[in-house]
Amino acid sequence: MTDQLPPDPAIEAKPTSASRTTLSHIMTGSDTNLLGTVHGGVIMKLVDDAAGAVAGRHSGGPAVTASMDEMVFLEPVRVGDLVHVKAQVNWTGRSSMEVGVRVLAERWNESTPAQQVGSAYLVFAAVDAEGKPRAVPPVRPETERDRRRHQEAQIRRTHRLARRRAIMELRERRAAEGMQD
Ligand SMILES: CC(C)(COP(=O)(O)OP(=O)(O)OC[C@H]1O[C@@H](n2cnc3c(N)ncnc32)[C@H](O)[C@@H]1OP(=O)(O)O)[C@@H](O)C(=O)NCCC(=O)NCCS
Repeated sequence: MTDQLPPDPAIEAKPTSASRTTLSHIMTGSDTNLLGTVHGGVIMKLVDDAAGAVAGRHSGGPAVTASMDEMVFLEPVRVGDLVHVKAQVNWTGRSSMEVGVRVLAERWNESTPAQQVGSAYLVFAAVDAEGKPRAVPPVRPETERDRRRHQEAQIRRTHRLARRRAIMELRERRAAEGMQD
């Protein structure tokens, strides 16, 4: 994971709305855990699928999941619920994109509005045919909400890099002191 390179100035920016998408899915009996509610991993797969679709659409080609963080489950999802997974590019670097995802559930037996049941942030790296990172179009936030998400994503990016750097430095220090795991 490199430190920040500037976005490629030769690539035209794309608005957030150009790649935003929603993936919808009805939960079935095969999606359950031992409690009879939907398994968290099933939701995580949908989150990764929706975010991957957005990353591919924004970058105009293949993109791989580099990380998933802050996956939050707020409420259980039940069999029969119609789940909507909403994803958009929050922020772009040189070759990476942070995709924000919100998970909503429409209860099969209630005529209430869809309820937010989870959220996550994923980083995707756009890759070429050899699997090497390639430059992506900068994202152009369009609304105040997009701009807030862009600013918050930049904070998360700074923290990810700082955390990784601190851990690498600690490992190097321990190795230099002859400590073995
Ligand atoms: C993600 C991957 C392409 C990064 O390759 P790399 O050789 O480390 O390349 P870089 O260090 O230049 O990273 C490329 C970009 O991804 C970002 N990145 C890499 N690892 C990251 C991580 N763990 N978290 C967040 N961002 C990350 C880098 O910051 C960089 O962003 P930028 O270009 O916008 O500044 C590579 O690690 C990979 O192919 N991983 C496997 C991905 C995969 O198969 N996913 C599906 C799992 S089954």
